[in-house]
Amino acid sequence: MKYIRTNSLKRLFSLKRRSFGEEVPSPNSSLGDENDESFKILPLTESPQRPTWKCFSFEEIFDATNGFSSENLVGKGGYAEVYKGTLKDGEEIAVKRLTKTSTDERKGMEFLTEIGTIGHVCHSNVLSLLGCCIDNGLYLIFEFSSRGSVASVLHDENLPPMDWKTRHKIAVGTARGLHYLHKGCQRRIIHRDIKSSNILLAADFEPQISDFGLAKWLPSQWTHHSIAPIEGTFGHLAPEYYMNGIVDEKTDVFAFGVFLLEVISGRKPVDGSHQSLHNWAKPILNQGEMENLVDPTLEGAYDVTQLKRLALAASLCIRASPIWRPKMSEVLQVMEEDEVDTERWKMPEEEEEHEEFWGFEDLEYEYDSSSSISLHDSTGSS
Ligand SMILES: Nc1ncnc2c1ncn2[C@@H]1O[C@H](COP(=O)(O)OP(=O)(O)O)[C@@H](O)[C@H]1O
Ligand SMILES: [Mg+2]
Repeated sequence: MKYIRTNSLKRLFSLKRRSFGEEVPSPNSSLGDENDESFKILPLTESPQRPTWKCFSFEEIFDATNGFSSENLVGKGGYAEVYKGTLKDGEEIAVKRLTKTSTDERKGMEFLTEIGTIGHVCHSNVLSLLGCCIDNGLYLIFEFSSRGSVASVLHDENLPPMDWKTRHKIAVGTARGLHYLHKGCQRRIIHRDIKSSNILLAADFEPQISDFGLAKWLPSQWTHHSIAPIEGTFGHLAPEYYMNGIVDEKTDVFAFGVFLLEVISGRKPVDGSHQSLHNWAKPILNQGEMENLVDPTLEGAYDVTQLKRLALAASLCIRASPIWRPKMSEVLQVMEEDEVDTERWKMPEEEEEHEEFWGFEDLEYEYDSSSSISLHDSTGSS
């Protein structure tokens, strides 16, 4: 990965407003893998407008956030703070600031990576970057997601339980956003940190994938990328990534499967008992007792057909073997289409045995489920 130097950034932002529209293919253009049949039948609900972003002045964001007042603080990660702000024209924004205490250069690089990655994506299920500011520190400016993150809504005991319709909308929207990142935008983007605190919610509960600090661009001709240090969030790490640092679309598919289980069950990926959600759900899924997965706080108020589709999608996504995991286009088919070809997803017996062998017990660490990890230096961030 190339490191974007501050000087290059300054040159880049010498233009007051820069459009990255030319990098975004039109909705009708040929996208992704042309041999991918399933891909063609699934439209990528891409928003028609092209992304434009601007360079904000420090004064503008300082005024918008009431001088970065603690009352405006809406989120805090390992190396960044996020503040709510209101621009002079009334537009609500989120300002992500690299914390001053963050001396780790790699974290600064991740922050800059986020500009490069998110700056050219444009989809209704991916958080829009409005711009950035490089005076007095590093700041990214996003559209404000007024409902917060899926994690904050799902696990807040002071809020009523999230209804099934909303859960289903979040599951399908997130799958569409991820499908777009893998296939729909010109660069192939692997997010690497799909989890409920990185899926934000707009006013109408439309999900938006955010936090591209760990994201990677993969050249289309590469089958995968080997990465060290291994970073991501415990409970969401695919075995081939955890064991060998192998990253490709299937890494995100695995994390998406865990996310689906979280949305269906209302359980955290790693709970107080240190049992991963994956390990809890696997026997239930294997026995086809899908109704036992559902969040009891829903008191039975869910659509059985939708549950079966989401649960089947989750069970395929969390398969230990990446080649037996579906692509996001196929995940969407399983989640949305009337007829699901279950035969298509049957694994040979010896593969099934291999799956059983994978207990993931060796992945049981005492980590806060909301924290990203780096196995290289064991630092944590959300
Ligand atoms: N655009 C936004 N609108 C509303 N809240 C946001 C927005 N961006 C981030 N947040 C809040 O801040 C938290 C941390 O943001 P994130 O980008 O994930 O930072 P980090 O890289 O530190 O994890 C999120 O979980 C969310 O609660
Ligand atoms: Mg985050």
